[in-house]
Amino acid sequence: MILVTGGAGFIGANFVLDWLAQCDEPVVNLDKLTYAGNLENLTSLQGDARHVFVQGDIGDASLVAQLLTQHRPRAVINFAAESHVDRSIHGPGDFIQTNIVGTFHLLEAVRAYWGGLQGAQKDAFRLLHVSTDEVYGSLGPGDAAFTETHRVEPNSPYSASKAASDHLVRAYHHTYGLPVLTTNCSNNYGPFHFPEKLIPLMIVNALAGKPLPVYGDGMQIRDWLYVKDHCSAIRRVLEGGRLGEIYNVGGWNEKPNIEIVNTVCALLDELRPRADGQPYASQISYVKDRPGHDRRYAIDARKLEAELGWKPAETFESGIRKTVMWYLDHADWVEHVQSGAYREWVGLQYASPSA
Ligand code: NAD
Ligand code: TYD
Repeated sequence: MILVTGGAGFIGANFVLDWLAQCDEPVVNLDKLTYAGNLENLTSLQGDARHVFVQGDIGDASLVAQLLTQHRPRAVINFAAESHVDRSIHGPGDFIQTNIVGTFHLLEAVRAYWGGLQGAQKDAFRLLHVSTDEVYGSLGPGDAAFTETHRVEPNSPYSASKAASDHLVRAYHHTYGLPVLTTNCSNNYGPFHFPEKLIPLMIVNALAGKPLPVYGDGMQIRDWLYVKDHCSAIRRVLEGGRLGEIYNVGGWNEKPNIEIVNTVCALLDELRPRADGQPYASQISYVKDRPGHDRRYAIDARKLEAELGWKPAETFESGIRKTVMWYLDHADWVEHVQSGAYREWVGLQYASPSA
């Protein structure tokens, strides 16, 4: 079996659902259930004996040690993190705690467990750490996309905390020989994406008749990948990745934010037109920029493609259509995640809406 951390969040839940749709190898899912963790993402697994959910913290070394001893996984896949840049600007403490200190405790528990394995079990064991392209910092307009050897130059408390965790993972391989793999992926989108992030926020706000807040000039560039393609890349790296290596994951889909917002609006115009016949793009509102906002990310995924033969299944056009349709079909999910904590966040972040 495998141990997944953060498997009730956006990418982790997609990963667990895809894993169990494709094989019968059981999953132990350790998740703290912060505001971003949602067991509703996993309701289709209710009663499925292949999925064992445990509410807990990756920083709880004794709990992690107990789970490892009890379930004896062949791999640990670490998704657990605080993941939202804007929240890290308002309050970095939780990011330091989970992304750095939590990853350290997880590494210690995994090192002790792996140290006690023997022979083939020890050789086969893997820790896969899921990270982000944001650790590389920001690119200028003409710069080449990030390769795995790009300088690590994180600019936000979020990306700095992820870079620190990546360094710890690397050091545990170098110093203790822990069999680790690290993936650094570009921006994901798709089902179960919490509506604090750009794409789901725009869909949810558009449908609610609210302003669509675009930071600064809207010309910041992100490189978008459909979440299920990220999950297939992780499975492929777990299966065939070389120990201690970093694999960049991306779909060669660089787009400025304003283009993303316009695409979402156009799809909604087609699939759920406004009652008054006006385009959703009329709700776009330029707001104050994010402090320290990275201008451009772009991933060079050639290592993963060449070494492991991975390719994304979705184009941006097919993935974004699926995503918008998923949100239209899951109004209940959206309503349930818009809890008190969500409303407090929106009140704090978007208090002064004009640029
Ligand atoms: P998310 O915020 O949607 O989910 C994070 C999950 O981790 C939640 O279920 C939360 O409850 C859980 N969690 C938080 N702190 C925990 C702790 N201390 N112990 C156990 N569980 C804890 O995040 P996501 O978008 O699904 O991202 C998952 C991982 O992928 C993160 O490591 C993130 O840095 C990385 N990543 C995300 C993106 C993206 O575009 N979303 C891109 C590249 C990499
Ligand atoms: P986000 O989804 O927060 O991901 P990240 O910051 O990790 O890339 O933001 C994606 C881009 O969209 C980023 O450049 C910030 C921008 N953005 C807005 O313009 N308005 C918003 O309300 C949000 C949440 C993000």
